[in-house]
Amino acid sequence: MSLVIRPIEYNDAKNCGKIGYQAHKTISSAHGYPSEQPSEEFGIELIRSLLENPNSWGVLAERQGKTLGSIFLHKFPPSPVAVIGPLTVHPSAEGGGVGRMLMDAALTQAYEQNYDQIRLVQSPSHIRSFVLYTKCGFTLREPLLLMQGQPLKNINNTSSANFHPVRNDNDVSVCNELCKSVHGFSRELELRQAKDQGVATMIEQDGVVTGYAAGLGILGHAVAKSNEELKALIINASAILGPGFFVPARNHELVNWLFKNAFQIGWPANLMTIGPYQDPVTPFLPSLAY
Ligand SMILES: CC(C)(COP(=O)(O)OP(=O)(O)OC[C@H]1O[C@@H](n2cnc3c(N)ncnc32)[C@H](O)[C@@H]1OP(=O)(O)O)[C@@H](O)C(=O)NCCC(=O)NCCS
Repeated sequence: MSLVIRPIEYNDAKNCGKIGYQAHKTISSAHGYPSEQPSEEFGIELIRSLLENPNSWGVLAERQGKTLGSIFLHKFPPSPVAVIGPLTVHPSAEGGGVGRMLMDAALTQAYEQNYDQIRLVQSPSHIRSFVLYTKCGFTLREPLLLMQGQPLKNINNTSSANFHPVRNDNDVSVCNELCKSVHGFSRELELRQAKDQGVATMIEQDGVVTGYAAGLGILGHAVAKSNEELKALIINASAILGPGFFVPARNHELVNWLFKNAFQIGWPANLMTIGPYQDPVTPFLPSLAY
């Protein structure tokens, strides 16, 4: 029987969420990592929240009415980047090309919407996904580490910079300019969402913005002019949102500093991209998306 790809409806959330949980549990238990999807409820709620997001688009794969897997594509207007994930296939359906069909559907959707920069964060312990993404055209850009630990509010901050929340449109606009200079585009939607949640912070030196964080956590991102500013953003964050935050593993100085401050690695990940990519020119923290 042929495989059917169709849009995910609200009452598919349970099946898709259970598969997401099962697929991640199988991989994480094989490697001894905590699972990215810690419970079935988490997996189901994740699918539900994505279905409610007007910037997310999802399809599932089914055979004879049985759901085998699902995938999502996200936009962050006006960012020129579209992001894929989560992609999950039930372990019993692996090897049947389900992952490839879902990925082809998401890429087609991205291209139809004129996105040429497509990104995702891959779990490197899973060889199948690395192979699948590479065959679909993704290039490995940045090995990442999810760092887990306690907020560092109590350690001595020697920076003389002015640290404060992102408060208004002007703050957003200067942070956007910094992001553009580092990545080539702004991440305004995510920054505004973090500002509205009261978790966006920034640093200024002599009236010039030198770093900002759209929340410190797995869904947050940060850019800074130097590691000193990035450290100050981490030190001044009142909370770590979610299971931790991603750091580029190649940033030896920052990773080593986090180890010295009792942070541990939760799990590794890879930032992979299709299309134009500007190597960030200064230190940054990526989100789970890109
Ligand atoms: C990753 C995942 C979606 C892949 O789904 P899938 O249906 O098994 O994927 P496909 O079979 O279409 O593609 C896997 C490819 O890897 C290839 N492959 C697997 N192991 C390989 C290896 N060791 N070396 C080289 N190729 C390998 C397969 O042959 C296949 O390529 P082919 O179709 O050209 O033969 C699925 O395994 C999953 O849900 N895993 C758990 C959750 C997860 O890790 N999601 C991705 C998060 S980044």
